[in-house]
Amino acid sequence: MASLAHENLDHDDDHEHYRNHHHHHHHANNLNGDSRTHLPKKPRLSFFTESEIATEFAHHDSDVARINNGSFGCCPASVLEAQKVWQHKFLAQPDDFYFNELKKGIHRSRSIIKEIINAEHVDEVSLVDNATTAAAVVLQQTSWAFSEGRFDKGDAIVMLHYAYGAVKKSIEAYVTRAGGYVIEVPLPFPVSSNDEIVTEFRKALEKGKANGRRVRLAVIDHVTSMPCVVIPIKELVKICREEGVDQVFVDAAHGIGCTAVDMKEIGADFYASNLHKWFFCPPSVAFLYCRKSPKLSELHHPVVSHEYGNGLAIESAWIGTRDYSPQLVVPSVLDFVNKFEGGLEGIKKRNHDAVVEMGEMLAKEWGTHLGCPPDMCASMIMIGLPACLGILTEKDTLKLRSHLREKFGVEVPIYFRAPRNSEDVTITGYARISYQVYNKVDDYNKFKDAINKLVSDGFTCSLLTT
Ligand SMILES: Cc1ncc(COP(=O)(O)O)c(C=O)c1O
Repeated sequence: MASLAHENLDHDDDHEHYRNHHHHHHHANNLNGDSRTHLPKKPRLSFFTESEIATEFAHHDSDVARINNGSFGCCPASVLEAQKVWQHKFLAQPDDFYFNELKKGIHRSRSIIKEIINAEHVDEVSLVDNATTAAAVVLQQTSWAFSEGRFDKGDAIVMLHYAYGAVKKSIEAYVTRAGGYVIEVPLPFPVSSNDEIVTEFRKALEKGKANGRRVRLAVIDHVTSMPCVVIPIKELVKICREEGVDQVFVDAAHGIGCTAVDMKEIGADFYASNLHKWFFCPPSVAFLYCRKSPKLSELHHPVVSHEYGNGLAIESAWIGTRDYSPQLVVPSVLDFVNKFEGGLEGIKKRNHDAVVEMGEMLAKEWGTHLGCPPDMCASMIMIGLPACLGILTEKDTLKLRSHLREKFGVEVPIYFRAPRNSEDVTITGYARISYQVYNKVDDYNKFKDAINKLVSDGFTCSLLTT
């Protein structure tokens, strides 16, 4: 279907093809990414075959049903190869690499990301280690605003109750300690509509503005980690603007490659997404988008080096001697995703459809339900586990997860949902399954069979001691 597009491949403008998902460049080892000088006249026309995909992920432990892409992502062999080439290039002639290659390479990666996320300008895109680092960049700026008197003690920060644990700690370290007042937005789970989220969010902003306080920052997840739900961020950002919230930071650790990521549509001040979770980069690299504004110069990388004061993107591109290869392989990732029908968009859509199908299959098998409607999930979904497993504490979830890993070869995270009251005898344990291009129906059948076996054996979590 896409063969016509390929005829024009050699004439593509570098910056236009990123959003066109029907091209199939084949230059994984061409680190400068200048396909026109190296491509054979007739580029390869076919998409990946099943067996080629299997080869790309042959390094995965074949004994494990890996249905947890959400935690650590994955990286295909062709990208790992490209990473190795970069690493060797550095070690072969470090000075030449530093003076002539590194800046160019990082700029090229940032340009690709800029196109994919529909940012206005490449200066808005910085590459950092991970979402945790991106949160530190944003929150450190908040901390300075308190300590330098631009914010008043008691001014509020709003975040979701389901914010990622590490980001909550960061808020504690940078904001609470600096005198900020932190308000958590409680979210219902299971959740059945965006309205439930919007209502709670509005209430939290009201609380934040009580007693004449100002809401200085809203930290909103795009896809919450545990339990996982896609948050209606476009709507929440709009509400923040209407209610006079100073800044909005979207923690989209599961953003690019997982859900819709368009900076102009979303309109946040800051938006961070890992590239190693759903964008096939090796660990670890994330982008931090910062909307162009005079305030941009107040942002700094928490690891300060020579480039301090030259803009966040440039500061972040040299934070001392280290391995920058994960940031340099973005062009190779683009080659990889464009070998799938529909490119990144196609991957995302198929992953979503498949995870919903697998989730519904499991919920039906176990007589339980999904944690949210299919249109509120991306490439991960929550499924209720049979109540008889006796998941009664956070600790039980970890014990059961280890048991599934060690005894059944299934890797899946489990969530504990506390009963609301003594009459609440509904499901207390949910599994979060992910779907990524390497997954097979068999992975989910293995999980299904493992839980069925536990149920038929009369297993409960109280039987596990460790
Ligand atoms: C919502 C959210 N924020 C932040 C992170 C942290 O990501 P990283 O460990 O790559 O910094 C995660 C990781 O799962 C996450 O889900």
